[in-house]
Amino acid sequence: MTQGTPSDPGLFATMYSARALRRFKPDPIPEEVLFQVMDAAIRAPSGQNAQDWRFVLVRDPAHKARMQEWAQIPWQRYQARYADRPEEIDDLPRSQRLSLRSVEYLVHHLSDAPAIVLVLGLKGRHSTPGGSAFPAVQNLLLAARGLGLSGSIFNLPLSREDELREMLGIPENNHIYCALPIGYPTDRHGPLGRKPVKQVVYDGGFGKRWAFAEAQPDSGWQERWL
Ligand SMILES: Cc1cc2nc3c(=O)[nH]c(=O)nc-3n(C[C@H](O)[C@H](O)[C@H](O)COP(=O)(O)O)c2cc1C
Repeated sequence: MTQGTPSDPGLFATMYSARALRRFKPDPIPEEVLFQVMDAAIRAPSGQNAQDWRFVLVRDPAHKARMQEWAQIPWQRYQARYADRPEEIDDLPRSQRLSLRSVEYLVHHLSDAPAIVLVLGLKGRHSTPGGSAFPAVQNLLLAARGLGLSGSIFNLPLSREDELREMLGIPENNHIYCALPIGYPTDRHGPLGRKPVKQVVYDGGFGKRWAFAEAQPDSGWQERWL
């Protein structure tokens, strides 16, 4: 079914397997590969085709180290929830526990990511802020997956926005939408755990069941692509 090649898994296999992987090998990303990822990102749609997104590649080890430091601040606040009973983390459902552990890993190893892409957009122009940035983010993540890389939105370093702006010279008229560490993953891609279509897609009005979706098994569709 899949029409991809070993080096390009094909659109559906890519969409169905692009997990938020947060552990990276130390291997650098060749310039040409990074360029291909960014060139795919900027093929995304934007309001009025304004394309007023901007991207900053953060690769300087000192800059990445500072971003890692800033990620500790919200992480410590988050962890305080479990301060009395750290074993509560072990009681979480498996997928939540693994995801939390991978976030924790990245909090302590962000500077090992070969690149962190900061996604910016001109403020005030669009009626749906973010609507003109996140299509490019998704293109970027899918392109990364297609090329054997992986990434995830990781906004914890934005906790020190003023310092981040100063460090990278980001002007006030640009909103900082997200940070995307990318690199070659140590973990495997896919499959993705998601609520089934029937739970989130309505037919003809909010809350109205879609008969076709109701009749589908909760899993199985993705096996067509993986
Ligand atoms: C708007 C947005 C913000 C996110 N922020 C973070 C974040 O700050 N830290 C993080 O580790 N992951 C973040 N993520 C990644 C999600 O946690 C991840 O995509 C989701 O858990 C699904 O993971 P999976 O694709 O591996 O199943 C964010 C994703 C989105 C779309």
